[in-house]
Amino acid sequence: MLKIHTVLCRAGTMDNYAYILIDEATGLSAVIDPSEPAPVIAECTKLGITPDYILNTHHHFDHTDGNLALKELYKAKVVANVNDSARIPGFDIGVEPGKTFALGQSIAQIIDVSAHTQGHILYYFAKDKALFTGDTLFNLCVGGLFEGSIDEMYTALQKIKALPDDVNFYPGHEYTIHAAAAAFHAAPQDTNLRNYLRRADEKLKQGQPVCPVTLGEEKNCNPYLKAETLDQLKKLI
Ligand SMILES: [Fe+2]
Repeated sequence: MLKIHTVLCRAGTMDNYAYILIDEATGLSAVIDPSEPAPVIAECTKLGITPDYILNTHHHFDHTDGNLALKELYKAKVVANVNDSARIPGFDIGVEPGKTFALGQSIAQIIDVSAHTQGHILYYFAKDKALFTGDTLFNLCVGGLFEGSIDEMYTALQKIKALPDDVNFYPGHEYTIHAAAAAFHAAPQDTNLRNYLRRADEKLKQGQPVCPVTLGEEKNCNPYLKAETLDQLKKLI
């Protein structure tokens, strides 16, 4: 069983999320996308853990800037797409799209979603129903196309849509409020979206992250996931 702790980083500026994962069977732990060290270290101290791994979804600085400090402090191994190793600070272990990474007994499938960047990957823990989406899928929106095409983003979104509805997804940023207006404009009468926004608002007012949201909810409300064809997606990007 995988325990997941959400850590807000770069609060008030980029509002990144790092995630601390603990494989309860073995006690092994990992940090996903540490954009800065301090909030992650504080949470690890609170939890009493020493991370064994740092997992990166892609190379952008606001997902990897904490790598070297955490590696130094915890002697953690940095894990990332083997095809993007040159751009990952402190890179140690390459994972290959289509293969898996084992955090103890918790197994992540590595899914290539090159679009936001080339080499962007998702970590999908099928048994634990958890998907870490980096800057590919956010609440109600998707990541910008820094290095890829709309066609590639469409392909990436089809891979996400193929995953089960009861999977929880964990994005790389808290962008729900920024994306809400456009989603509402696209579907002002949509009851699913109204309920989604109400729940999101309640969580944010309590100082909680909106994530996790299930992929089922997201497929119903995220305009980019609702696009059924490439042409429909092109009208949104
Ligand atoms: Fe990014």
